[in-house]
Amino acid sequence: MTHKTIIANWKMHGSATLINEITPALLAWSAADPYATAIICPPFPYLNALKQALFDSDVKLGAQDCHAKSSGAYTGDVSAEMLVENGCTHVILGHSERRAQHGETNEQVHAKATAALAAGLTPVICIGESLAQRSSGNAVEIVVEQAKQSTPNPQSPIPNPHLLLAYEPIWAIGTGKVPSLEEIAEMHQALKAAMKEHLGTPPAVLYGGSVKAANAAPILALESVDGALVGGASLDKNEFLGILNA
Ligand code: PGA
Repeated sequence: MTHKTIIANWKMHGSATLINEITPALLAWSAADPYATAIICPPFPYLNALKQALFDSDVKLGAQDCHAKSSGAYTGDVSAEMLVENGCTHVILGHSERRAQHGETNEQVHAKATAALAAGLTPVICIGESLAQRSSGNAVEIVVEQAKQSTPNPQSPIPNPHLLLAYEPIWAIGTGKVPSLEEIAEMHQALKAAMKEHLGTPPAVLYGGSVKAANAAPILALESVDGALVGGASLDKNEFLGILNA
């Protein structure tokens, strides 16, 4: 099995209590020299506490969004440079909740990813189809197009293969529904092939949407799945460790 990347997307959840509960388990897991990379993406205010708690371990830190500009009059926003200064190596961009709740477009995600790369962050670019799009039979074409438009390519100012894609079917997020292994493999293979043309090298593609300890092993065993983006289950120590150990 190849090296897998498991990302915890805490969304707008978390507390000092959760950090105290989850970090000893993460440190113990990481000290056992696992064959996976764990990246924790808490809300902004908890980055620093996690940075201190995970200091000196191989567990990495990420954020859930950044602005496309380095600084300026953008109340409430955070730049990629600020994330780097606060210990982040990764940033989730274009999550379907941000696309739906904040109207983020592919163009904006592309601009944010360009800024993240320029600052030295690895963007984790989320794409995925709605249930209606899945039912239409065109999910693969739609998601591939979304990925191309959201992702900086070698013609962009910063050519860089160091980005991750996260395929997250919107209908699978937080619902307990998961596509079949065949559907996941089909999408991941299509994304890798199309993005190889777009980027020059095929990117790593993570799967996200209702990943739990109980279903992680067969998903992660798929050759085209390079890891998982985990929401709800990342807030439960035992669930998340179960996924890391899968
Ligand atoms: P979920 O969320 O694991 O709770 O389905 C995944 C995500 O939104 O990244």
